[in-house]
Amino acid sequence: MRPNVFRAFCDLAYEQAGIRLGDEKLALVSARIGKRLRALNLTDETQYLEVLRQDKGGEELVEFLDVISTNFTSFFREPAHFDRLIADLTPALERGQTSFRIWCAASSSGEEPYTIALVLAELFGSRNVDWRVLCTDISTKVLAMAKRARYREQQLKTVRKDLVSKYFRKVRKDDGDEDQYDVTPELKAHLTFARLNLAQPPYPMRGPFDAVLCRNVMIYFDAPIRQGLVHEMERLVKPGGLVFVGHAETLSGLKTSLDVVVPSVYRRPEGS
Ligand SMILES: C[S@@+](CC[C@H](N)C(=O)[O-])C[C@H]1O[C@@H](n2cnc3c(N)ncnc32)[C@H](O)[C@@H]1O
Repeated sequence: MRPNVFRAFCDLAYEQAGIRLGDEKLALVSARIGKRLRALNLTDETQYLEVLRQDKGGEELVEFLDVISTNFTSFFREPAHFDRLIADLTPALERGQTSFRIWCAASSSGEEPYTIALVLAELFGSRNVDWRVLCTDISTKVLAMAKRARYREQQLKTVRKDLVSKYFRKVRKDDGDEDQYDVTPELKAHLTFARLNLAQPPYPMRGPFDAVLCRNVMIYFDAPIRQGLVHEMERLVKPGGLVFVGHAETLSGLKTSLDVVVPSVYRRPEGS
């Protein structure tokens, strides 16, 4: 791929999703865009740029963002966060709070929000609690996978067996000989899905959320986009609520009123 064409794709990724692609990504982007050219029967990358620029419905833009960004996720990824979330919500539950709202920004194909749902369902048990997890992502493709909520046995290897038995149902094998599992409708009913571009604040939600998980996505953004995102997370989380970012991410260097609890976990001060 010619450097000027690569730069045009980089500019598009930044304008559309706040994603910064460094020069070291040239080979990767070039290989991945090659796949889209073959899928669309195009012969040349500049034709593909034109398709993206004319893409009013946004479907090919989603494909483009999918090929240049990674949707990698897993159940119980960075597991200490879920222990901390539960430890943090438990006192409120014991004080009699009966309604909880969690926002999972960049929820990808659902493994993260269903992990949240699993631990919350275990925490609340048979108590009469109204709880919901809002799941947002820029990619309609991963949101559709999350809504479908079907996972291969291999993807569930980080989920405790008793939780798999309780919150998943085995379905017929339709992918080679690997078993697949559906999340139970009862658990699924607590999740809401919406497309949201984190690079375009302000977001339409009013909040407040008891906790916000925004993990492993800030890493793609530069400082101005991160700043806008942090500002929105501060607005949307309740005073006293936790904000989680990925283990490799930090808010240091950004203007924020959030206090550091431990690296990658922040708290909005009470009374703020
Ligand atoms: C590496 S995955 C992380 C998934 C999950 N949060 C986790 O930690 O396992 C990054 C996700 O961010 C999403 N994403 C990338 N840019 C975004 C943007 N501008 N707004 C919202 N989501 C975005 C991608 O579609 C992808 O699903």
